[in-house]
Amino acid sequence: MTTLFPLILGYLLGSVPFGLVITKLAGLGDIRAIGSGNIGATNVLRTGRKDLAAATLLLDGGKGAIAVMIAYLAGWRPEVAGAAAFLGHCFPVWLKFKGGKGVATFMGTLFALHFPAGFFAGATWLGMAYVLRYSSLSALAAAAATPFAMYAMGKPAFAIASLVMAALIFIRHRSNISRLLANTEPRIGAKKEEAS
Ligand code: G3P
Repeated sequence: MTTLFPLILGYLLGSVPFGLVITKLAGLGDIRAIGSGNIGATNVLRTGRKDLAAATLLLDGGKGAIAVMIAYLAGWRPEVAGAAAFLGHCFPVWLKFKGGKGVATFMGTLFALHFPAGFFAGATWLGMAYVLRYSSLSALAAAAATPFAMYAMGKPAFAIASLVMAALIFIRHRSNISRLLANTEPRIGAKKEEAS
C-alpha cells in the first residue's frame, strides 16, 4: 500500500494538464496547435501570455510537489508519488496518454523530495537558460545532472527515481534534440515554431 497508493494518487494529480486547461479557459484555443505543440509552460509562453506561462509552471510543478508532500504525510514512498505524478503529466489518461515533457513536474517533485536537489536542478536550468536561452537544452542539462547530485547528497532511492524521470525527459525531448542539432530550436522568447 505504501507503493500502490502514492502511485495512484501521484498519477491522478500529475495527469491534470494545466497548460491545456489554462490556455483554453483564457480563450487561446488548443495549446497543442501552437508552437511546439507541447502543453508545458515554455509553449504557453509562445502565446505571449507570461502570466499564463508562470501559472502553468507553478501548477505543473505544484502537482508533483503536492503528490510528494501527501506521500510524506501519509507514510507512503514519496519518490513513488513524485515519479507517478511525472508519469501522469507525460502520459495523461484524459489526453489519450499524449501529455507533456515533464520538466516542471520533475522540478516540483525534486523540491519536495529533497529541497537542495530541487534547488540544484532549478539553478542548473536557470543558469543554462540565462546563458544559452534554450528551454529544452536547459531542461536536458538539469535532468542529466540531477540524479548524480541526488546520489551525492546521500539519497540513493531518490537518485534512482530522478534517473528514471531524467531518462524519460530525454525521450520526450527527441524532437527538441533533433532541432538543437540542426540549429533550428527556437530560443526562449521566440514565438514562432511549427508544431512537432
Ligand atoms: O519544458 C519543456 C521544454 O523543455 C521544451 O518545450 O515547447 O520548446 O518543446 P518546447
